[in-house]
Amino acid sequence: MIRSKIRGIGHAVPDRVVTNADLEKLMETTDEWIVERSGIKERHHVDSDTSTSDLGVEAARNALEMAKVKPEDVELIIFCTISSDYFFPGSAVQIQEKMGMKNIGAFDLRAACSGFVYGLSVADQFVRTGAHKTVLLIGAEVQSVALNFDTEHRDMAVLFGDGAGAAVLQPSDDESGVLSTHLHSDGKHLQDLWLPAPGSKYRPFMSKKLIDDGLHTPFMNGREVFRNAVTRFPEVIQEALDHNSLSLEDVTLIIPHQANLRISQAVAKRIGVGMDKVYSNIQKLGNTTAASIPIAMSEAFSEGRFGSGDNIILAAFGAGFTWGSAAIRW
Ligand code: ACO
Repeated sequence: MIRSKIRGIGHAVPDRVVTNADLEKLMETTDEWIVERSGIKERHHVDSDTSTSDLGVEAARNALEMAKVKPEDVELIIFCTISSDYFFPGSAVQIQEKMGMKNIGAFDLRAACSGFVYGLSVADQFVRTGAHKTVLLIGAEVQSVALNFDTEHRDMAVLFGDGAGAAVLQPSDDESGVLSTHLHSDGKHLQDLWLPAPGSKYRPFMSKKLIDDGLHTPFMNGREVFRNAVTRFPEVIQEALDHNSLSLEDVTLIIPHQANLRISQAVAKRIGVGMDKVYSNIQKLGNTTAASIPIAMSEAFSEGRFGSGDNIILAAFGAGFTWGSAAIRW
């Protein structure tokens, strides 16, 4: 069966840089604590007039330009996010409209930090089966507007940044392309990383009480996230290697979801590779949820960290819990 190939990647982050020193002014935290626990030194946050779809458009333009594809030639849009502009519909339809695309299929995919790998798996199926020749896959988030920048919520507030990454997938004409994707979930961890409200669980769906109870802000059980992430990342990287009869020596670069530098370092140690083989840009961008892998892939490609014929592994872990990987021959 024909493989799908990433013909273009691109990314976009907002201009405004928020340093750890900026956060020190808003809550009881220190640069030292944040760097020690997460590796993050700064992140980018949107200003009041920028939303998730705006960042998605910018990333998509860059990916389309690299792929030499016109917006009118895109056949399907998959928008991976948990921070769409509106509760419904999803942001994919805004991409269709803002970029002047035809009346093609467009949908959002909500798999949190695993969103881009899940989306890549879906896009890959459409291209492999011949259903679509050009799929635009976007991972974009504006998390900063959902965070509370105070001491009570400092565990989450210091971690997240805003941004978007995009990829254009088309059929491959050789052995390169997406080799395989592997998806997993374990819903018993739902409450270890979640944003409970608004939702159909409540009557009414949204109320002042839900806000007063703080259910409209994200919650994380940091220890459970860490414990599961450092187990699931190695498992799913190994799954991608085994499926393709590859060893770590055959892999040029592992691009993990940028959850936390300490998690990436623990994963590298467990699988027995140096950090030179595990891409990291969380120091300057923070954790951008579904956008982190395509942004990292775009930056790593621009920096010449991988190129034609190289094997790379994408690996993700996030809310749900969900986790997944993709093996790609570039
Ligand atoms: N600045 C200063 N102090 C803070 C901050 C902050 N930004 N955030 C939390 N603290 C405090 C806590 O209030 C707590 O104080 P207390 O002991 O007085 O109650 C203390 O630091 C310890 O916090 P814990 O989170 O409980 O840290 P612990 O020592 O248990 O370490 C661990 C746990 C593994 C380091 C974990 O919390 C962690 O880092 N987990 C990873 C979470 C993560 O990176 N998630 C990424 C996002 S999710 C994703 O992408 C999949």
